[in-house]
Amino acid sequence: MNYIGSKYSLINFLKSSVAKTLEQNGETRTPSEMVFADLFAGTGVVSAAFMQDGYSVIANDIQYFSYVINKHVLENSGKLDEGACAQLIDELNKVDGVEGFIYKNYCYEGTEGQEHRRMYFTEHNAKKCDGMRLAVEDMHNKGDINDNEYFFLLASLINSMDKYANTASVYGAYLKQLKKSAQSEMKLTALPITHTQAQCQVYNEDISKLITHVSGDILYLDPPYNARQYCTNYHLLETIARYDNPTIYGKTGLREYADQKSVFCIKGQVEKAFAELIKNAQFKYIFLSYNNEGLMSCDAIERIMKKYGKYKYFIQDHRRYKADNAREAKTDKTVEFLHCLVKK
Ligand SMILES: C[S@@+](CC[C@H](N)C(=O)[O-])C[C@H]1O[C@@H](n2cnc3c(N)ncnc32)[C@H](O)[C@@H]1O
Repeated sequence: MNYIGSKYSLINFLKSSVAKTLEQNGETRTPSEMVFADLFAGTGVVSAAFMQDGYSVIANDIQYFSYVINKHVLENSGKLDEGACAQLIDELNKVDGVEGFIYKNYCYEGTEGQEHRRMYFTEHNAKKCDGMRLAVEDMHNKGDINDNEYFFLLASLINSMDKYANTASVYGAYLKQLKKSAQSEMKLTALPITHTQAQCQVYNEDISKLITHVSGDILYLDPPYNARQYCTNYHLLETIARYDNPTIYGKTGLREYADQKSVFCIKGQVEKAFAELIKNAQFKYIFLSYNNEGLMSCDAIERIMKKYGKYKYFIQDHRRYKADNAREAKTDKTVEFLHCLVKK
């Protein structure tokens, strides 16, 4: 998934920086003896990479759609039958479209007569999404699929629908004309199924609360860097995941998000929240991804982390995310920092 702040292209940098830090600190344990926590997990690519290396992983995100994806990516390892999964995907692809919540609110035909005629999906794809989403819930309620299959199907649906969205990249706006990829008929494609021995646990909580009741060895923090709230940028994926008929408003059909608003996106609050996080973290090694244009300055980060032990940082150039405001951006590169604390 094309996700703001995804660390997909930085995985090698993260892995080598973590490995160097462990080595420099004389760490003798192997990955299978250690717990790696990724508590702003987003798409889960970082969690998945460390899981593949054998770490037990704790992943978390405040958004439910991210939780769904991570439940599949991390907790379904070795628990799904590939043949049965392929059959379920086939079955869902044959489901009839339904004029449900997505159709009635997020496609042009379904919003006829309403104040805002939205064009996030074609009529066909919006109906297909509703038909499949209802079918998955129905199968689960009837006991025809277990929890692992439920999260596999839901995660695959979220990931598939994202490919047909008529947006520049995020759901903060839709395009006035249907772009080419949005015009194609939606087809549900299966997310890959992983096979590892690692033990993983996924949460859907505000990190500031979760941090007081989880512990481990390596804590990876990848908070939002700026004032843009993820919940407004990905509201439609959240609604497909929850399918809870929310009250929506405005041109883009936003759902209420007070309980998902992140203090890490608020200039006047982020430093205090970060300081609390570091204070409460029961992990020896703490890594923070942040860039040189984030809400917290490097000096502030260093000051906060240094209080609790040995501090250093690693750096890497990073291509600017394409949804970033290109008109305001002076360069297409940002410097990606990986701040590192070895707690006393
Ligand atoms: C930079 S993204 C993480 C990207 C992720 N590392 C990846 O590669 O996909 C930041 C994530 O933090 C989540 N988030 C923001 N505030 C949070 C909070 N208070 N508690 C938990 N998650 C939060 C957002 O929903 C978003 O998915």
